[in-house]
Amino acid sequence: MTKKFLVLHGPNLNLLGTREPGIYGCQTLSDINSSLGDLSTELGCELSFFQSNSEGELIDSIQSAVGECHGILLNPAAYTHTSIAIRDALSAVGLPCVEVHLSNIHSRETFRHTSIIAPVAVGQICGFGCDSYLLGLRALFNYVKKI
Ligand code: DQA
Repeated sequence: MTKKFLVLHGPNLNLLGTREPGIYGCQTLSDINSSLGDLSTELGCELSFFQSNSEGELIDSIQSAVGECHGILLNPAAYTHTSIAIRDALSAVGLPCVEVHLSNIHSRETFRHTSIIAPVAVGQICGFGCDSYLLGLRALFNYVKKI
């Protein structure tokens, strides 16, 4: 059966390309989604994509993935560090989630060192720019294949 994954991008990631390129790189969100699309063809899985600046919309999207997707590739952006509600949504749906970040959150400001999401994720990949997403998709795909 073809595996399907939700790729979920949190707040301000719609600005990638022009947003602090020294930290987040020059690739736009649609460049990242397109690279993920190429990888999904190679792996033989299907992706759906969603970005929102709103916590509630991200939670609705996580809830809607039940019965539709086998896992979630998530960059919660700033909500990584603040959102108990997104963490609870992931716990509630029980879908495997891989958390990704373009930057290395552990080498930045101390308020970024804590991820509220990480304890309910299968794992976290950060610091590799766009490759964090590609590594994350491979990790999620391999994880889901085994369960
Ligand atoms: C980010 C890291 C977060 O701390 C930040 O708030 C973001 C992007 C990243 O991909 O490096 O918006 O998730």
